[in-house]
Amino acid sequence: MRGYLGTALTTAAALVLSTSLVKAADVEVLHWWTSGGEAAALNVLKDDLAGKGTGWADMPVAGGGGEAAMTTLRARVTAGNPPTAVQMLGFDIQDWAKESALADLTETAKAEGWDKVVPAALQAFSTYDGKWVAAPVNVHSTNWVWISKSALDAAGGKAPETWEELVAVLDAMKANGITPLAHGGQAWQEATMFDAVVLSLGADFYKAAMIDLDPAALGGEKMVEAFNRMATLRSYVDDNFSGRDWNLASAMVINGEAGMQMMGDWAKGEFLKAGKVPGVDFVCIRFPGTQGMVTFNSDQFAMFKQTDAGMQDAQVQMAKAIMDPAFQSAFNVVKGSVPARTDVPDTAFDDCGKKGIKDLAEANTNGTLFGSMAHGHAAPAAIKNALYDVVTAHFNGEYDAATAATELAAAVEAAK
Ligand code: GAL
Repeated sequence: MRGYLGTALTTAAALVLSTSLVKAADVEVLHWWTSGGEAAALNVLKDDLAGKGTGWADMPVAGGGGEAAMTTLRARVTAGNPPTAVQMLGFDIQDWAKESALADLTETAKAEGWDKVVPAALQAFSTYDGKWVAAPVNVHSTNWVWISKSALDAAGGKAPETWEELVAVLDAMKANGITPLAHGGQAWQEATMFDAVVLSLGADFYKAAMIDLDPAALGGEKMVEAFNRMATLRSYVDDNFSGRDWNLASAMVINGEAGMQMMGDWAKGEFLKAGKVPGVDFVCIRFPGTQGMVTFNSDQFAMFKQTDAGMQDAQVQMAKAIMDPAFQSAFNVVKGSVPARTDVPDTAFDDCGKKGIKDLAEANTNGTLFGSMAHGHAAPAAIKNALYDVVTAHFNGEYDAATAATELAAAVEAAK
């Protein structure tokens, strides 16, 4: 009798114990956030999920802009083994949704009112066929310049506001014996700079060329001018730029070797990780001539369809965690981006972050907010890649500006 009771109690105790130990399924997260600043931001997400009982299986695929990550993703899906959650940009989300590969998050989105707080420009990518298929974690933008404060002071102290002023500052930095422009020679980095250069020739021009893919804009005089500007910028880059990762280019500015970097605001994450303070150690400006305009990209997490109920639940938990306003503040403060929700206060953000939030809202109101071509928010991957090829070939001296513009129009037309 005693023995029986004892056994029963032990069994009950074991049951309680095992229930409390049951862990929600781990989400396997494929992402390309491997630089110091990116990893720091990713940890905010990992820790948040851990606090809510959702485990994390890490699947990093290094390579800024996510091209390598997207290749790995394709291989995993083809092998019938998609990751649970994937960092994804713009048109890639739409492409996977079209293939019916993504889980439907609409029920969660409705319950949590995402449609009321996520800007329409982002919803255009987070939803497909009226259903939510991704949770946006941030908004980055590509038309920024990150300048070393001491290098700027030595070059006269005034942040450039026009193309001519920019060239004058770059010249002064060169005369001061530093590399004026820190750049990593990878196609996506050249394309990132190209976003800003095209935008600096006018909002209408950016829209016509990059969004509407108008052959006249892609191959016309203004595009020749854009390539001339790219060639001018190329002349301020050091000899060892080829293949350099973007975060190593950021490091050149951080350690005083270079004057400035033209890069999306994920670069700010590197400055912050290195303990640098905006306004004191570095200055953030919009690429000269693009004040009041924003070329954006939003990192979103798409969930690949799963049959296991525990896994589906973990996906929902992750999507909810991403959309939590307090999380969006904590994460984006570290990442360098701004929240994907419009109801997150800017109080925790530094001056560059506050400017980013304000610029985004204003550009949205003024009709000067455009998807970034370089980061998959202007056109699908096939067109983006065609553009990468021409921009990088020109940057590496294979084409003169006029030939590049002709090639650009032809390459985009062929990829359509
Ligand atoms: C972008 C992405 C950013 C940042 C950057 C460099 O495409 O949106 O979050 O990670 O690549 O890796």
